[in-house]
Amino acid sequence: MTFIVGEECIKCKHTDCVEVCPVDRIYEGPLFLVINSEECIDCALCEPECHVDAIFSEDELAEDQAVFLELNAELAEVWPNISEMKEAPADAEEWTGKPNKLQYLER
Ligand code: SF4
Ligand code: F3S
Repeated sequence: MTFIVGEECIKCKHTDCVEVCPVDRIYEGPLFLVINSEECIDCALCEPECHVDAIFSEDELAEDQAVFLELNAELAEVWPNISEMKEAPADAEEWTGKPNKLQYLER
């Protein structure tokens, strides 16, 4: 079992989640973070830290978010690790709750 980062993180990227991961298994792309599903220890600490509710347990993932399971696994292999919080993008608040953000994902 793993936790995964879902669509709501795209263009928000607040990074509070990385501060609490005890095994530093979160990886950073330009507009989005992902969790390494092989290395996540399923501790659930990151889930309540995200104030846009972007983090889910694998078994609680909505059907329309299933693609994010694969995206987290794939991108965690290529993006660099992040373990310290940084400033969110300047327009993060504008993107909170916006639908269909997958189209803005940059690799
Ligand atoms: Fe890290 Fe725990 Fe979140 Fe997995 S569930 S990414 S181990 S904080
Ligand atoms: Fe993204 Fe939430 Fe973490 S917006 S970077 S999953 S705190």
